[in-house]
Amino acid sequence: MLRAQIEHHNYRYYVLDDPEITDAEYDRLFRELVQLEAEHPQLATADSPTRRVGGAPLAEFSAVTHRVPMLSLNNAFSEDEVAAFDRRVREGLGLDVVEYVGEPKFDGLAISLRYEAGVFVQGATRGDGRTGEDVTPNLRTIRSIPLRLRANEIPFLMEVRGEVLLFKQDFKRLNERQRTLGEKEFANPRNAAAGSLRQLDSHVTAARPLRFYAYGIGDIEGGPAITRHSGLLDWLESLGLPVCEERDVVRGPQGLLQFYRSLAERRETLAYDIDGVVYKVNPLEQQQELGFIARAPRFAIAHKFPAEEALTEVVAIDVQVGRTGALTPVARLKPVFVGGATVTNATLHNEDELKRKDIRIGDTVVVRRAGDVIPEVVKAVSEKRPAHARVFHMPAQCPVCGSSVIRLPEESVVRCSGGLYCPAQRKQAILHFASRRAMDIEGMGERLVEQLVDRELVKTPADLYALKAVTLADLERMGEKSAQNLIDALDRSKRPTLDRFIYALGIRNVGEATARDLARHFGSLEKIVGATEEDLQQVPDVGPVVAYSIRRFFAERHNREVIEHLRRRGVNWAEQATEPQKAAGRFSGKTFVLTGTLASMTREEARQGIEDRGGKVAGSVSKKTDFVVAGADPGSKLDAARALGVTVLDEAEFLKLIGKE
Ligand code: IVH
Repeated sequence: MLRAQIEHHNYRYYVLDDPEITDAEYDRLFRELVQLEAEHPQLATADSPTRRVGGAPLAEFSAVTHRVPMLSLNNAFSEDEVAAFDRRVREGLGLDVVEYVGEPKFDGLAISLRYEAGVFVQGATRGDGRTGEDVTPNLRTIRSIPLRLRANEIPFLMEVRGEVLLFKQDFKRLNERQRTLGEKEFANPRNAAAGSLRQLDSHVTAARPLRFYAYGIGDIEGGPAITRHSGLLDWLESLGLPVCEERDVVRGPQGLLQFYRSLAERRETLAYDIDGVVYKVNPLEQQQELGFIARAPRFAIAHKFPAEEALTEVVAIDVQVGRTGALTPVARLKPVFVGGATVTNATLHNEDELKRKDIRIGDTVVVRRAGDVIPEVVKAVSEKRPAHARVFHMPAQCPVCGSSVIRLPEESVVRCSGGLYCPAQRKQAILHFASRRAMDIEGMGERLVEQLVDRELVKTPADLYALKAVTLADLERMGEKSAQNLIDALDRSKRPTLDRFIYALGIRNVGEATARDLARHFGSLEKIVGATEEDLQQVPDVGPVVAYSIRRFFAERHNREVIEHLRRRGVNWAEQATEPQKAAGRFSGKTFVLTGTLASMTREEARQGIEDRGGKVAGSVSKKTDFVVAGADPGSKLDAARALGVTVLDEAEFLKLIGKE
């Protein structure tokens, strides 16, 4: 009874993806069963959910002969090849139109599960198609594989064929865990699934969240009469086996191509990797009539997506400067066709990645382009490294504006420090400067800033104050009246408070709260400009990273010049009376890190909530972090918090702490 209940919840969770109870309740049921079986060993059966993990590690896998061989599929790479497949099938059957089933081509590992009288008794890898390896203990750990089939008309014997794989999310988490543990990361979900299934110790497999999808059968004795492949899949589903939802009955070559296109479009949103689609003739009688050729069926074909990875050569490495000043190394490549397009550039992400992957100019590299994602260099092929390959170093100066480049201690990204001056950062800097909580220049929106910068009317925020109404009136969507309104708004913005002005400068890591603290502590901009990192750290909640960031901003001559221009054009901020810092709030001196999504507020609101109470929000977890607030789908920051023993708050606890519940 309890066993059936637990298997039912496994099924709801892993097969239907629709749990009825919480994880905690599930754990309670499971513990209850473990205890019951320990007290009454005679009650424990082979198909008990407690037996999903167990047994000593194997010395080696034994061989399993498949009663019906596990064949492979022929491939089609173009629409013409699909049309040719359909033609062969039609001719073979003497029909005008053929009915097919379209399915995803899962990018995992083929396995065969043997059920005797509905009980899972043996599972094997494909091997060479005739003989595979017995990986039963490992397959038992996969919770979506039923240990006992549901429903009534159960065959005496049945081999279920399908694919073992890892969901993309689970793969990411697994690699994050490997990284935290200092273990080797897996190249892709397929490799991770393969490595996990070939473990001699099933406890290792149990810790890997493998999944299974059934797509057919091998041998079968007994069971209901079934006439179509689509009916077979429905029946497998009714037995409690996971069958993927992305399947469809279609007609003719147009139907096939429609299915292909529809799945190709949704590929990125699927939970698992696929490398194409599979078409199978639907009526089983027709499948038999067509039979097999060599080692593949004539009644089915795999229509593959274009390869997402290809080899090419790194001709040069350049640096791009993004809107926020981040310097990204970019590989210039010998053009290569990959993921359905010709690629000539690929991102190398950042300096750390570049070093970790040790990619050099002249290297032959693996380039990956998946869907709409920016092409990236995956790795260098070390065996092909030429003697003249050159190591690349990030420049010390911004390649766009020549300002010095800085790297904040807690970031992997290198940035241009000329935030107010650098052409690459212009639009962003001006928009931020004009924004409501900064200088509050009404009407200075994105479209306008685009035009002003593109027409080179404005290069830095200081140029805004030299604009004339006649020039503005000439721009798109601008009349004389709105031009004058803008000039008035610019005039009104000329006397900000010191803290708003500091915030408007867009210094990295200086949000409104820090800007307020700086203004209160120093009282004048001159003092802040002249402050050493030590001085800056006297301000509550300004740590070494923020102090360094401020220091480097003002050390950059270009930035100081822009401030000077602003002053000359009439922008003047009030000096502020310095205040001894009062204990600013309940969170004073406390550092928070946010991860995951909160249901009741945005990240920005959470940050505000913390800063309003005098707390600080940091971007990454360190020993100095006091609290990590973890919402849904938290990232690696949660692992880091646990590893460092930092207190983790869930949403409810956090809300309580800020007094919102
Ligand atoms: S049917 C007789 N259906 O593709 C046909 N195979 O080249 C047997 N695969 O190793 C295979 N998704 O692991 C079938 N929906 C699908 C599939 C699929 C992936 C793999 C399978 C096999 C290979 C065949």
